Amino acid sequence: MLQSPRPTVYIETYGCQMNVSDTELMLGKLTESGYESVEQPDGADVILINTCAIRDHAEQRVIGRLGEMKSRMKRDAVLGVTGCMAQRLGSQLLDRARHVSLVIGPDSYRDLPLLIESARSGIRTTATEFDLEEHYEDFTPRRFDGVKAWIPVQRGCDYRCTYCIVPTTRGPERSRQLAEVVRETESVVSSGISEVVLLGQTVNSYFDGQHDFADLLRAIGNVKGVRRLRFTSPHPNDFSAAVIRAMAETEACCEHVHLPMQSGSTRTLKRMLRRYTRERYLECVDKLRKAIPNLALTTDVIVGFPGESEADFEETLSAVELVGFDDAYTFKFSLRDGTPATRFPPSDTVSDEIASDRLARLIATVRAGSRERNLKLLGERREVLVEKSARRGGLLQSRTRDFKTVMIPGDVSSIGRYLSVELTGTTGSTFIGKVVPQRIALPLAV
Ligand code: SAH
Ligand code: SF4
Ligand code: F3S
Repeated sequence: MLQSPRPTVYIETYGCQMNVSDTELMLGKLTESGYESVEQPDGADVILINTCAIRDHAEQRVIGRLGEMKSRMKRDAVLGVTGCMAQRLGSQLLDRARHVSLVIGPDSYRDLPLLIESARSGIRTTATEFDLEEHYEDFTPRRFDGVKAWIPVQRGCDYRCTYCIVPTTRGPERSRQLAEVVRETESVVSSGISEVVLLGQTVNSYFDGQHDFADLLRAIGNVKGVRRLRFTSPHPNDFSAAVIRAMAETEACCEHVHLPMQSGSTRTLKRMLRRYTRERYLECVDKLRKAIPNLALTTDVIVGFPGESEADFEETLSAVELVGFDDAYTFKFSLRDGTPATRFPPSDTVSDEIASDRLARLIATVRAGSRERNLKLLGERREVLVEKSARRGGLLQSRTRDFKTVMIPGDVSSIGRYLSVELTGTTGSTFIGKVVPQRIALPLAV
């Protein structure tokens, strides 16, 4: 008897690492249920767009992409929208796009195979309930990255930053059991991966009922074979003394923290409901730097938040200079429906022209600072982990423990290896490196 070919599934991912990790879970579940994963939407039986809702721009890209799919998908294909935009818009998406037949929020991936089956028989569904127990523990993720593993340790968020849609799209905060995270780490290490990145919206507020983030760092750092341990994103208020001590004492823990600042003005931070002041943020930076020598710091900053004055913005610039960030992700404020920021009076709105101007000035300040820091590192040696082929120049892209990108010559057989490199040049943000042969201790002649 002829065996019918396996149905194919294509997933396209937008947004943060949490979404990338969710795509890995969905692909794991679907391949286990008999689907074959493909790299292109054309001809696929199932197309899923895993979406982000963080800024309007992110949603517009998805809307455009959904329109494009209309002409690219084959006639009987199932098109589904998953992720944060699915959660935010729910059945509105089904009304707006007739060729979409599934809308599935981040807590409903468990039923994915069933929902796809019913969509294939013509039933259009929305699944957007939050499930406070859901961690997809029994899913085996299908990882794309063979060098580092993203491990979700917490879902949702209990903060209520006034600009942010995430609490609406991801629901309340919940942490996985420490033992489960250890188990997943062990399995990742046994597949040859030695760098793990713990994921959560405010990852250092992790608490599984018994263990906090300090316990988690120590436990994961102790898993044999974990050579590099990172986490993202922490909240400044959740850097307890115990967490900082655990970072300093856990050898695998890398000398880099991504510490979202959002603004350097206490007045703006208050209106953002970030729950810290400029001074407390700077104190947090000091504590981290005292405990961890040569710590690299990166951040997120928003400009043009409602009511942000020129003086507030200048405080952001001065905080960026004072801290000396190694890099920063910079964003123009985007008003999201349903967030508390919609309640500020229209007179607080910062015009797009002013916001664009501030963004350009902020980027220039960040670049000048990181260039100055990076120039000072030239000539130094670093251990790098080779991540992938670089897009240009036949080079490889590698990373230091302190999160610097170093381009080095070499061939793909080096991917996944640790090498010693000398930093020989910098574009200001990334480095060019020369591989330095490791000195091998030879036994003395007798
Ligand atoms: N949980 C993380 C942030 C996740 S969102 C944290 O608290 O640090 C990633 C970044 O997007 C945020 O740090 C913020 O800088 C930016 N962001 C979130 N909402 C935004 C909005 N409405 N407009 C512009 N930028 C936004
Ligand atoms: Fe959004 Fe704030 Fe939660 Fe981060 S901490 S996800 S910015 S609400
Ligand atoms: Fe976007 Fe959702 Fe992540 S809104 S940034 S994909 S949590």
